[in-house]
Amino acid sequence: MKVAFKVNGRSTTVDVAADTPLLWVLRDALDMKGTKYGCGAGLCGACTVHFNGAPTRSCSLPVSAVQGASITTIEGLSPDGTHALQRAWDELDVPQCGYCQAGQIMAAAGLLARNAKPTDADIDAAMNGNVCRCATYLRIRQAIHRAAELKAQVRVTEAGK
Ligand code: FES
Ligand code: FES
Repeated sequence: MKVAFKVNGRSTTVDVAADTPLLWVLRDALDMKGTKYGCGAGLCGACTVHFNGAPTRSCSLPVSAVQGASITTIEGLSPDGTHALQRAWDELDVPQCGYCQAGQIMAAAGLLARNAKPTDADIDAAMNGNVCRCATYLRIRQAIHRAAELKAQVRVTEAGK
């Protein structure tokens, strides 16, 4: 089946079995390895991407469902790795082994897009399905708060121009 969609703003067409999970299309057909395989069953969040802006498990999404859609992966979150979350992650040295972190950041980006100043409870609710075997949860929470601050600073600066 031919499926045409956008990945990180660029139009692409793949020709694969309709039930191929989007995760494998990204990793194998498009050679974008930032999105990770964890459980393959929608349970760990390692494979999280944005599907029309909403955090979605790409391991559980058949590619046929993304016909005409817009997908954003960790590679496309910012052009140069300077998204507020990426800066906060760096500042607070969040990752340990790093395996889960692309999924964590994509889930966090979805949260900040709909809630500019999340509370601890908001963060815990939004990030609940993203598993980290290295238990970096506290740093993730701190980094999301820090990213919210960084985004607010940018908004203030832009408003003052
Ligand atoms: S690999 Fe997709 S949720 Fe675990
Ligand atoms: S940093 Fe190792 S699994 Fe999360």
